[in-house]
Amino acid sequence: MQSLREARNVDPYPFFEQRRAQGPVSWDEGMQAWLVVGYDEARFVQLREDLFRHPYAGIAGAADVYGGPRGVLLLQGEQHHSVHNFLLKHFTPMRVAQYRSEFIADLVSRRLDALGGRTNVDLAAEYASVVPSDVIAAMLGLDWRNEELMAQCRVWNNTMFRWTETFGDDDAAYEAARSAAQNLNDVLLPVIRERREHPKDDLISILYHKGDGLLESWGEDDVLAQARVLFFAGTDTTGHFLKNTIYLLVEHPEYQDRLRGNEQAIVDFGEESLRFFAPVQFRIRVATQDVELGGHTIREGDRVHPVNAAANRDPHHYGQPEDFTVDRPNVKDHLAFNVGPRYCVGAALSRGEEIEVVAQLLDRYRNITWDADADPPTNYGYMPRSFSPLNVVVEPIAHRSA
Ligand code: HEM
Repeated sequence: MQSLREARNVDPYPFFEQRRAQGPVSWDEGMQAWLVVGYDEARFVQLREDLFRHPYAGIAGAADVYGGPRGVLLLQGEQHHSVHNFLLKHFTPMRVAQYRSEFIADLVSRRLDALGGRTNVDLAAEYASVVPSDVIAAMLGLDWRNEELMAQCRVWNNTMFRWTETFGDDDAAYEAARSAAQNLNDVLLPVIRERREHPKDDLISILYHKGDGLLESWGEDDVLAQARVLFFAGTDTTGHFLKNTIYLLVEHPEYQDRLRGNEQAIVDFGEESLRFFAPVQFRIRVATQDVELGGHTIREGDRVHPVNAAANRDPHHYGQPEDFTVDRPNVKDHLAFNVGPRYCVGAALSRGEEIEVVAQLLDRYRNITWDADADPPTNYGYMPRSFSPLNVVVEPIAHRSA
């Protein structure tokens, strides 16, 4: 492989090591961009938005796709800071602990109940891919019980991610994303209008009624923009995280007994999963001025990709980075959720989902193994990626199946 551009649906890690041999930063001709594979350098790029700006606001069509120019992804500077911090307050670890007992645990067990007594299942399609949209839809106040609607929303959110991967260069992907965005607006707007008149305790009501003052003349469009980003960011990404984590659990079966009933071990396993297979592999930045980085001069206007998936396996930062092990002293300092001003708003939420998903899976089943008669997992995706399908054979644990 010569360029990151060729990494779709194939294992990208050998390519990352090829680039690492050229240093922590190198030019990718196919991408027409700098790839940053060193841990310290990738961290620096994402911490220093003054030197490496977040470029979405400048990509033609981004406002249409992401729900409006005042969504958190497109905002810059003080305005960004204000909305980002407001959102973070509703996704703190403490809040997420509360959400877990209030509704996440129930949503997860409902998906396991739906598997019935079957012992051959695809844990990607029927479990890991569907829990995150249930959760974020329930938080926003959408009709998460409507299976057909949720399935459509997953496709629409995913279509938007496909366009993100083109950096605004692909007209067909843009048209598909714009139409998906319109469909999502049509789902969200009636709920937003209803909550304006009759607030409940969901996120859309909170955004409407407590967001006032975050930006000048805060209104319906601003609520729509944030809700669109949360729905999109909360669906696809966490699905990839959960799929990777279940994949690792089947690939490393010795962990199944070790994690059962042990929440701290499940937390550590999730962190190592995020390090080992970053669900969002790389990000996009543009240099605001000439900057020295990793022995190169990055010119003003150059595109730069911090490749967090590669940084997470930097041997200068991690001992034996190619080994999957939960016993690392620095298991939590990976870059999967980014760092700095664009730190992921939903990091604690997706961690909470991982705990419930793994804990409940192991509470119901033991000896989860690959189903030799069904399609094996493949490494699919590009910027966000994971393993799918996850066709497994499970052995129900008696106390649950009784
Ligand atoms: C494992 C799951 C997830 C991963 C790996 C992930 C990863 C990321 C990354 C890498 C960024 C930085 C984007 C950038 O630099 O341009 C980000 C931002 C963001 N994430 Fe997540 N995310 C996950 C789950 C979620 C969830 C569940 C939500 C919502 C509830 C969410 C909401 C956001 C938002 C709103 C931002 C934008 C922050 C900003 O621009 O200020 N994410 N996420």
